[in-house]
Amino acid sequence: MDKNWKLDVTEDTESLLSSNERTTIPEISSWNRRKIHRRPRSMLQTFVCGSLCIVGLFLLIYIPLFSHYNARIFPLSNWGYNTSRNTSDYVLPSQDTVMVFPRDVCDSNNKFFLLIMVSSALGNFQARQNIRETWGNTTEFNYPMFWKFHSKLKGKFLDLRQKDIEKYRMFLNMTDEDLTQKFSKDEDRNNTLRYHNVPVKIVFLIGRNIYDPYLGNGTQTRLDNEIREFGDILQEDFLDTYNNLTIKSVMMLKWIAETRCHEKFKFLVKCDDDSFINLPNLLHYLLGGTLPLYNSTVYMYDEKSYKVLNERNRLTQASNLLIGYKFCNSKPIDSVTNKWYMPYYMFPNDTYPNYLSGGSYLMSSDIVPKLYTSALSSSLIYLEDIFITGISAEHAKIKRQHNPLFLFNYAKNKCALKGVLTEHYIKDDHMRDSYHFLVNFGNRCPYVDRKILTKNLRNSKNVCH
Ligand SMILES: *[C@@H]1O[C@H](CO)[C@@H](O)[C@H](O)[C@H]1NC(C)=O
Ligand SMILES: *[C@@H]1O[C@H](CO)[C@@H](O)[C@H](O)[C@H]1NC(C)=O
Ligand SMILES: *[C@@H]1O[C@H](CO)[C@@H](O)[C@H](O)[C@H]1NC(C)=O
Ligand SMILES: *[C@@H]1O[C@H](CO)[C@@H](O)[C@H](O)[C@H]1NC(C)=O
Ligand SMILES: *[C@@H]1O[C@H](CO)[C@@H](O)[C@H](O)[C@H]1NC(C)=O
Ligand SMILES: *[C@@H]1O[C@H](CO)[C@@H](O)[C@H](O)[C@H]1NC(C)=O
Ligand SMILES: *[C@@H]1O[C@H](CO)[C@@H](O)[C@H](O)[C@H]1NC(C)=O
Ligand SMILES: *[C@@H]1O[C@H](CO)[C@@H](O)[C@H](O)[C@H]1NC(C)=O
Ligand SMILES: *[C@@H]1O[C@H](CO)[C@@H](O)[C@H](O)[C@H]1NC(C)=O
Repeated sequence: MDKNWKLDVTEDTESLLSSNERTTIPEISSWNRRKIHRRPRSMLQTFVCGSLCIVGLFLLIYIPLFSHYNARIFPLSNWGYNTSRNTSDYVLPSQDTVMVFPRDVCDSNNKFFLLIMVSSALGNFQARQNIRETWGNTTEFNYPMFWKFHSKLKGKFLDLRQKDIEKYRMFLNMTDEDLTQKFSKDEDRNNTLRYHNVPVKIVFLIGRNIYDPYLGNGTQTRLDNEIREFGDILQEDFLDTYNNLTIKSVMMLKWIAETRCHEKFKFLVKCDDDSFINLPNLLHYLLGGTLPLYNSTVYMYDEKSYKVLNERNRLTQASNLLIGYKFCNSKPIDSVTNKWYMPYYMFPNDTYPNYLSGGSYLMSSDIVPKLYTSALSSSLIYLEDIFITGISAEHAKIKRQHNPLFLFNYAKNKCALKGVLTEHYIKDDHMRDSYHFLVNFGNRCPYVDRKILTKNLRNSKNVCH
């Protein structure tokens, strides 16, 4: 649900007006035709003028008053007016709905720093494999790579502070002994994290096949093999369809909350299987540092956020945090053919609560149970990001924060990937090309040109804070 911000209200009113005209005007003219034979011409003209004026006045008053009843009347084909929108009816809070759970994530005693839940359609085998072999390979693509990416830009971004490193060590329950075992003595102990892979878990989130999983054809065998080989899949018991993506995300919250997994990690990122996560950058940001400005990312920043050497631009919050690319005051789409069409019965309001793009959003682990409880008592809508980060977060009184580096689409310039946290709509070969571009340290990406810097920034007034 990323593109509705492009729609503007005048367009909606216009289409509404023409549909009203089509139904009212012909009736009046046929009524007038009957009277042509009995009345003089001048009186007829007066009459036509008068009735048109009345109809015009009526439309003027009627449209603004009742427009929301008229638009968005068509039902969704597989989510009709009478289909239950009680989240509990699908998520079944009192039942165990896990069909397959990932190994060594929530069932393990080890703490880890970041959990990335990738929403994936059951049949997207290749998309999952692409992720495993690119940004999801956390043994290769991890924090030490941050220092390789930006080695030429030392001093142009904020490094971690000693107290951030200590906090992180305490969270992972890393003792001095652990550290000396892991790192040679002559290494600068204060910089140990630079050489250290941060523990990150990646889990793919899928639902149930349309067909009985145990009677299915090749798909199920292939899935079984995938589960056996990688053990990184959470399969929950609901139909895996686009209109059920909200249920998928609530199932994710359910699994984390019920296993009390949120006590084992600090941050959660939910993304799609066509999202690209720049994990080294993300870890640096989450641990308390800032990212350097590249020429190709500077347009994403505004007058405040571009000051990456300002302490204020560090992430200091590790609780009650919900952050991503924020959309404000978006309107439900009334075009039935649009992928994000929203019927009035499903969302009886003119404006969505502010929400974060579903391409990727980040939260601190403590809000997972709060969001889960809130989601269960909110009336379900099929647009996942609006439901989770808009409606449920609003009910739970969790503030949504904007960070443009969780880019909701993708940047044309490949270099942008070096300076962002995430991008969206990156698939197949594009995913592999992007990754190889990024990890090829021979590719130089220009640092922002001071002369054009302020000229290219976004106006803060247009940014949704
Ligand atoms: C929806 O429910 C109402 C009231 O229970 C009923 O009158 C109506 O026929 C139902 N509509 C459909 C399409 O099932
Ligand atoms: C939703 O369903 C649950 C269990 O079926 C029920 O306890 C709850 O009252 C329902 N909520 C609403 C708003 O109808
Ligand atoms: C991840 O990277 C390591 C180190 O480069 C490599 O040995 C391994 O095969 C990669 N794993 C996958 C799934 O690509
Ligand atoms: C931290 O680790 C020590 C031993 O390494 C263990 O005794 C202690 O229970 C751990 N604390 C937590 C909170 O996991
Ligand atoms: C390393 O950190 C300690 C505090 O833990 C500090 O006293 C010391 O000055 C730091 N050393 C360097 C080289 O920054
Ligand atoms: C499985 O069978 C269904 C029809 O029974 C078919 O639509 C689907 O494409 C098949 N999937 C594979 C992977 O063969
Ligand atoms: C969503 O999942 C539920 C539970 O599996 C299923 O009954 C329903 O038909 C699905 N809805 C859609 C729109 O796919
Ligand atoms: C930096 O970006 C601007 C446009 O945003 C472009 O005109 C300029 O050529 C770029 N500079 C470099 C060194 O790539
Ligand atoms: C509609 O949305 C606005 C803005 O989010 C909110 O203030 C208002 O209470 C909502 N109205 C209803 C009936 O939910």
